[in-house]
Amino acid sequence: MSDHQRFSFKDKTELQNKIDELSLKLKLSEDLSVFKQPLLINGHEVANRIAILPMEGCDSELDGSPSELVQRRYSRFFLGGAGLVWWEANAVLQEGRANEHSMFINLANMQTFAFLLKDLRTKSYEANGYSPLSILQLTHSGRYSRPVGHNPAPIITQHDPILDPRVGLDGSEPVASDDYLESLIPKYVQSAALAREAGFDGVDIKCCHRYLLSELLGSHLREGRYGGSFENRISLIMQIIQAVRKAVGDDFIIASRFNVFDAHPYPYGFGEDEHDMWKFKPEEPMELVRRMVRQGVNLLSNSAGNPYYIYPQVTRPFDQSSMGIPTPDEHPLQSIERLFDFTAQIQKAAGDVPVIGNGYSWLREFAQNMGSANIRDGRCAMMGLGRQAIAYPDAPVDILRHGGMQRAKCCLACSKCTQIMRDHGMTGCVMRDTAIYGPLYKKYRQEAEERECQKR
Ligand SMILES: Cc1cc2nc3c(=O)[nH]c(=O)nc-3n(C[C@H](O)[C@H](O)[C@H](O)COP(=O)(O)O)c2cc1C
Ligand code: SF4
Repeated sequence: MSDHQRFSFKDKTELQNKIDELSLKLKLSEDLSVFKQPLLINGHEVANRIAILPMEGCDSELDGSPSELVQRRYSRFFLGGAGLVWWEANAVLQEGRANEHSMFINLANMQTFAFLLKDLRTKSYEANGYSPLSILQLTHSGRYSRPVGHNPAPIITQHDPILDPRVGLDGSEPVASDDYLESLIPKYVQSAALAREAGFDGVDIKCCHRYLLSELLGSHLREGRYGGSFENRISLIMQIIQAVRKAVGDDFIIASRFNVFDAHPYPYGFGEDEHDMWKFKPEEPMELVRRMVRQGVNLLSNSAGNPYYIYPQVTRPFDQSSMGIPTPDEHPLQSIERLFDFTAQIQKAAGDVPVIGNGYSWLREFAQNMGSANIRDGRCAMMGLGRQAIAYPDAPVDILRHGGMQRAKCCLACSKCTQIMRDHGMTGCVMRDTAIYGPLYKKYRQEAEERECQKR
C-alpha cells in the first residue's frame, strides 16, 4: 500500500509526530529571524533570505514580451517582499520555447522588459523599502519544445525509450548535432547580454527538469563531443558559463538551477545509481557543483525529477496529482526530505556560493519553520518558494513583518496549476487566485478533452 497521505496537520506537534513516525531528520525552528540575515551574492545585497523560485505562467505575448498577466504576476512577487525573484524560463531562441507563450527576451522586445523591471523596482521600494534581486532563467526546452500550437517539436540530445513516445518520437529521428549544440553558445550569450541591458541582476543557465541541458547531463549513450563521459556531458554547460561570463563581466550574477537527480534509469538519467534509479549517486552532481563554482557561478538552486513524467513528486510534493499521474509510493514528507538533503549536499560542495532550497510549498505555514531551520543549520542560504509564491505572493512580508504565514492563504498542493500547463494553457493558482484562474482552468480542461476526443 502507498505511504502517500494528504496534508492534515493541525499544529507543529502533529507534524513532528509524523516526522518521528517516518524516522525522518526534518527539523523545525521557531526562530524566524534568520530570514532577516543579510546576504551578498557576487557583491549584490539581498534584503532577506526568502526567494521566489521560477514559476512560468505560459502567458507571455507571442513575441515573448511580458503580457498583462506576466506584469501582474511579477508585480505580486515584487510587492510580496521576497529578497530575490528568480524569473521564469525564458527561451534563448524561438525553436527552444516550451510553448508559444513562453517568455523570450530578444533585441526587438528588450525595452519592454527594461520598463517593467524599472516600474517593479520603484513600486517595491515604495512598498517595502527595498527591491528584490532579479535573476532571469535562460533555457532551451529541448525535448519539450513546442514553439507553435499544440504539436511537440522536440530537439533531443539522446533517444530515450521511455520519454520518446511521449513526444511523438519513434527512435529513428536524428538527435541534435554537436554543431547545433555549439551554435547555442552565442544564443545564451546574447540573451544574457540583453538581460543585463534590461536591468536584470543575473541570469540562470537552466539545467533542470530534462530540458535540453538537463537531458545532456544524462546523455550517456550520445557519441561525439557532448555525450558519453562526464567531461563531455558537462562540456556545453561549462562553455556556456565561460562565454556568458566573458560577455557580461564580473559583477553580473551567473546562476544555475540544475537537476541533481533525474529519477530516471541509467543510461538515460543523471545522478542515479546505475542499477537502481531511486538511489542517489552524488559523485557526478557534486563534481558538477565544484566545476560550476570554479567556473565562476555565483548562485545555485537545485531541483530534481521530470515534471512531464510520472513521478512529479520528485520535483514538487503534492496532495493531489494532475490527471494520469499515479499516487506516489512515498509520503510527501519523504519527497521533501529528499529535496532538502540534495540542497544541503550541494551547499556543502558549493562552500560560500549560496544555494536556494526548494520543495517547501506542501508544508503550508510550516515551510517557514523548516526553511529557518535549514538556513540556521547551513543546509541552504535561502528558502525558495514555488507554488506558494503564486498562491500566496505576500508570504515573505507575513513571515518578515507580520508574525508568520497564514494557513488560509497557503498553497493546497492540488496540482491544478500543473494541470493547466499539461492542458497547454496560461497558468496560475486556481485555488487562491480563483477569479482569474478558475475559469481558465475549466476552459483549458474542456479544450484538452476536445483535442483528446478528436485524436480517438
Ligand atoms: C506551474 C509551475 C511552473 C513552474 N515553472 C518553472 C520554471 O519556469 N522554471 C523552473 O526551474 N521551475 C519551474 N517550476 C518548478 C518550481 O520552481 C519548483 O521547483 C517546484 O514547484 C517545487 O517547489 P514548491 O514545492 O515550492 O512548489 C514550476 C512549477 C510549477 C508548478
Ligand atoms: S493551483 Fe494553487 S493551490 Fe493548487 S498547487 Fe497550484 S499553487 Fe498550489
